[in-house]
Amino acid sequence: PLVGPKEMFARAYAESYAVGAFNINNMEIIQGIMQAASEEKSPVILQVSAGARKYAGQPYIMKLAEAALQENDLPMVVHLDHGADFEICKACIDGGFTSVMIDGSHHSFEENIAITKKVVDYAHDKGVWVEAELGQLAGVEEHVSAEKSVYTDPDQAVEFVQRSGCDSLAIAIGTSHGAYKFKGEAKLDFERLEKITELLPGYPLVLHGASSVPQEFVEMANKYGAKLGSAKGVPEEMLRKAASMGVCKINIDSDIRLAMTAYIRRQLAESPEEFDPRSYLKPAREAVRTMVQHKIKNVLGSSNKI
Ligand code: G3H
Ligand code: 13P
Ligand code: ZN
Ligand code: NA
Repeated sequence: PLVGPKEMFARAYAESYAVGAFNINNMEIIQGIMQAASEEKSPVILQVSAGARKYAGQPYIMKLAEAALQENDLPMVVHLDHGADFEICKACIDGGFTSVMIDGSHHSFEENIAITKKVVDYAHDKGVWVEAELGQLAGVEEHVSAEKSVYTDPDQAVEFVQRSGCDSLAIAIGTSHGAYKFKGEAKLDFERLEKITELLPGYPLVLHGASSVPQEFVEMANKYGAKLGSAKGVPEEMLRKAASMGVCKINIDSDIRLAMTAYIRRQLAESPEEFDPRSYLKPAREAVRTMVQHKIKNVLGSSNKI
């Protein structure tokens, strides 16, 4: 069924794993994720960015999510990713999302609290979960260096949670969005994560920018004409470690994009006489399924948790 994240996160916290939050924007992505979650008997979060919502249209997103549940009945959350203001959060809450993120991380501390609290008041009235963010990841733009991130201050995190009333908190410890996360060695500030986990015991934390950027996809895409240069992601071992601490939700978008693009490029290159979209969307959907299943089973640890 369509559920809120409360029980999902409570169990993930207690049993030291994380639930995957996968970005969706079309039918094939939803099907690939849901087939994987179903095979693994895993809870799952489908998350929708403002851009995805605009691309597909909110009614399509909700109907596709409903259809997915008819095929695979799992505990599934539909979540707004990086809501920029109260209005988009309200529209998603009114439209049936069970969780929203208000991302006030680029505002001042006080303004971030104020905008988050406004969303919390509206959402909680309707039984909807609110994720907020404190600290800044390096820009959503690709190629922005991770040095520009502002890591989350542990003491401020406590004050932020208390004063805003948010249900979960996205933190900045060195991850970034996109496929170019690290120039040299991958490095996350686990001491900081440990401190935040200690100061907020039992409280669910969220890790954005957590794609691993599997080199097999990068190489396959490049082989068939992509120019992905020095794409690099978060090593799986680091995600396992974060999941064993306070992190209960791990966000993955770029890996889905890479998997689909690699397989679509290969299919188009190898069968130039084909022009039926199903001929390349089917392997792309299958690549998403395989990749998500691997994450659930070998990285997130959420298999058999429903
Ligand atoms: O956090 C960003 C997500 O990867 C969504 O990206 O805004 O291009 O849909 P998008
Ligand atoms: P990636 O770009 O690492 O997949 O991060 C996605 C994300 O954080 C969506 O909110
Ligand atoms: Zn994000
Ligand atoms: Na955890």
